[in-house]
Amino acid sequence: MIVVVGSMNADLSVRASRLPLPGETVIGSDIDVRPGGKSSNQAAAAARLGATVAMVGAVGDDQYAKILLDSAAAAGVGISDVVTLPGAATGTAMIVVDAAAENTIVVSPGANDQLRPEDLPERLVSDASVLCLALETPIETVLRAAEIAEEAGTTVVLNLSPYREVPPELLRATTVLVVNEHELACLSGASEDVVDGEVAQRVLAAIGITNAVVTLGADGALVVTPGGVTHLAAPRVEAVDTTGSGDAFTGALATGLAEGRSLTDAARLGNATGAYAATRAGAQTSYPSRREAEELLRSAMQASRP
Ligand code: RIB
Ligand code: NA
Repeated sequence: MIVVVGSMNADLSVRASRLPLPGETVIGSDIDVRPGGKSSNQAAAAARLGATVAMVGAVGDDQYAKILLDSAAAAGVGISDVVTLPGAATGTAMIVVDAAAENTIVVSPGANDQLRPEDLPERLVSDASVLCLALETPIETVLRAAEIAEEAGTTVVLNLSPYREVPPELLRATTVLVVNEHELACLSGASEDVVDGEVAQRVLAAIGITNAVVTLGADGALVVTPGGVTHLAAPRVEAVDTTGSGDAFTGALATGLAEGRSLTDAARLGNATGAYAATRAGAQTSYPSRREAEELLRSAMQASRP
């Protein structure tokens, strides 16, 4: 079983021909309200791929909470450990997507900020084979979840997003770190070309991380293990909206790991799932079934054969 501890946001998403510059006003499309939030996205992606998943999070008692709980339940995610906080607002994300499928996101955490260590179902986290974490809920809650998992021997997948400095104990409890190029650059603290595999390995080793995946968007992913660094190309797709593609990658990675696959094989499933998600609007609304992800993976492998 996969347990995901973290954020649930309603995504208020608008398309515009381009992202506004500071001080600029841009006219966009009608607004869409869709289920999102890094952690509930990861949970939905994993459940859509067939994993048994339980979500631990917090929502308010407003209309957005229903969108999130309905979407999680429809994907097959267990929601009995999501707390509803009276008087709180459900987390929301203000998203602008441009014609090139790029986005900017500002998150208003709302109820996510009130997910406390006491809300963690310790038994559930200990019993999980994989725990998925991101950084949109209070760090003491993320850290406590990681420590419970570490104690129980549960695999901890930490997505260092949105980037912030984290306590060393959290990195110590992490089995697999997932970062994008931007987060890796933040970790390196320099303007180094960290997309280079060896540099990535060195930056990660400096913080005590030996197993990691660096997601590279359309360029796929770097899989970092003590044995070396492998680049995995992503399936070529026509991207329309990359919102939540990284979360789809992480949910799929967790699914592969929970099935006992190698980090590299799990990252292949992650690549296909993330690429598929980019071809459709929204985050959770764009996630593939297992069959759809495997089909994309197969066709990409055929296409890459000489
Ligand atoms: O990673 C994408 C997600 O980030 C969105 O769904 C939004 O809610 C923010 O949490
Ligand atoms: Na998408």
